Amino acid sequence: MCGIVGYVGKRNIRDAKDIILDGLKKLEYRGYDSSGIALNIGGRLEVRKHVGRITNLENLMAGETLNSNIGIGHTRWATHGAPSDLNSHPHCNSDGSIAVVHNGIIENYVEIKEWLSKEFGVVFKSETDTEVIAHLIGIYYDGDLQEAVYKAVDKMRGAYAIGVVAASEPDKIVAVRKDAPLIAGLGEGCNFIASDIPALLKHVRKIYLIENNETVVVTADDVKIYNEARKEIKREVFHVTWDAEAAEKEGYDHFMLKEIHEQPKGIYETLNRRIEEDGSIKLDGINMTKEDIEGFNKVFIVACGTAYHAGLVGKFVIENLAKIPVEIDVASEFRYRDPFVDDKTLFIAISQSGETLDTLAALREAKSKGARILSVVNVVGSSVARESDDVFYTWAGPEIAVASTKAYTTQLMCMYLIGLYMGRTKGVIADERYNQYMSELKEIPEKLTKLLEGESSIRDLAKELYKREQVFFIGRGPDAGVSYEGSLKLKEISYINSFAIAAGELKHGTIALIEKDTLVIAIATQDKLYEKMLSNIQEVKARGAYVIGVAKEGNKEIEKQADKVIYIPDCIDEVSPLLSVVPLQIMAYYIAKERGCDIDKPKNLAKSVTVE
Ligand code: F6R
Repeated sequence: MCGIVGYVGKRNIRDAKDIILDGLKKLEYRGYDSSGIALNIGGRLEVRKHVGRITNLENLMAGETLNSNIGIGHTRWATHGAPSDLNSHPHCNSDGSIAVVHNGIIENYVEIKEWLSKEFGVVFKSETDTEVIAHLIGIYYDGDLQEAVYKAVDKMRGAYAIGVVAASEPDKIVAVRKDAPLIAGLGEGCNFIASDIPALLKHVRKIYLIENNETVVVTADDVKIYNEARKEIKREVFHVTWDAEAAEKEGYDHFMLKEIHEQPKGIYETLNRRIEEDGSIKLDGINMTKEDIEGFNKVFIVACGTAYHAGLVGKFVIENLAKIPVEIDVASEFRYRDPFVDDKTLFIAISQSGETLDTLAALREAKSKGARILSVVNVVGSSVARESDDVFYTWAGPEIAVASTKAYTTQLMCMYLIGLYMGRTKGVIADERYNQYMSELKEIPEKLTKLLEGESSIRDLAKELYKREQVFFIGRGPDAGVSYEGSLKLKEISYINSFAIAAGELKHGTIALIEKDTLVIAIATQDKLYEKMLSNIQEVKARGAYVIGVAKEGNKEIEKQADKVIYIPDCIDEVSPLLSVVPLQIMAYYIAKERGCDIDKPKNLAKSVTVE
């Protein structure tokens, strides 16, 4: 939620505006309600901001010269205060000599606001929590920005990554991180801060990952990091291995479509980087011993949104392979229900961004109760990864579209690998079964490539269906988990009211909503549940529904019941979610496209949800 960028270069190179705007565009996935920039020009802070997309800000500044070597910028996902010019960042203190960009929430801002108004007569211009930071720093400022920021931070409670500039210190950005992502980029004659790597990739490959409660002071020549005790510390440089193109559209109309097509590669990488020549799994980054694994009496999977849906399938897979009970919960519920977790629990957090606040808070709750924390994360060095005992990275590469696709399928692959690894370590999975699973998993990238070649038939189907206003997704077993994901994909990017339910549960109430021409998408890829699914399809057909079935090649019986069938390549039941979700992603994409929706940036959403 919200993205921040800061740049400082040598005084004679005055390209801050363009560099910051370009960085903000790469962070638009974090929020796009408004954007703004503050540049130091001749010892004065020039602030420009505009509601809506970054192009609005660019248009506002078109024709202005605004040459500067230093500045900060922000792209907003509104929390406190509606999207508007006034509520846009940067926010300034009363005389405009301090400017702040902020990602996060200041929980005690009302208290600070009252104190600032009462004691200092501060008049607030916006409805945001962030404005209090600018005024606090302004009040404490006595010629040393770093000191003033320290004093302000001591008063603040909440989550924040902030970037601050002062008019009278035209060579310096001070930034602080607490529970919101922050990195510093190391350039040649220039340095940066940002919320995430894509913002800086055009300019740098060397990054410092800033930890919680650390302050970073950035000048053109240097980046200094200070710990919580405010002592300067050394940090290892993190070298980014992927290139700028990985975060570009590469000819696709949208990031979402590009990312759908990147799934064979992501799945291949996630799997093959972990398989030894003898077929055993090496879980890099995981230090669990045989004794640890045998000591667990329960697994708890916790995540949000699409990552939670990966967990729904993960529950089936891990229970089945490792013979251990698996509970699953959405992170926002888990932490408030005093869950039964102890030192015999393996807690698995799944998160693409690794910054989702609900997931992070749940992880901390489980940790405080003694659980062993294993996270499945895409973004290297993110908060969830850093706070876990063991990390299992998905090799999806950067996911930019707000609607998650390749993160989901690579998360699923991690579920299989964790289940197989635990099962084999415990000796509860026979070699024959293990080998069958492995060879099926290895075939997935190729099968997926084949499936993607049939994209045009799903696009044609989308053209037929895009005017529907209500859709039901049904499935059984792992297919029920896939239904939830298919439904979420469709609703979040096309704004169609879609609903997922375990197929056998329909008759207990929801079937009342099925009437003539109601669209039902029935996922029927589980051989042992196939006939049951055919009965469920008949039930909705009998009420007039229009049914699209998703089935494995060769299972033709479904054609007698469903109006249309999408086939996925044949595979064992257990691994079918890796394939069956993909037609649903493609269908959601083309339906949203037909409806003229802003696919990569759906309304009201942001890629990284760092608020509760
Ligand atoms: C939907 C989507 C969200 C995320 C959820 C968790 O397409 O992307 O539902 O899955 O916000 O995000 P992460 O995985 O970053 O924790």
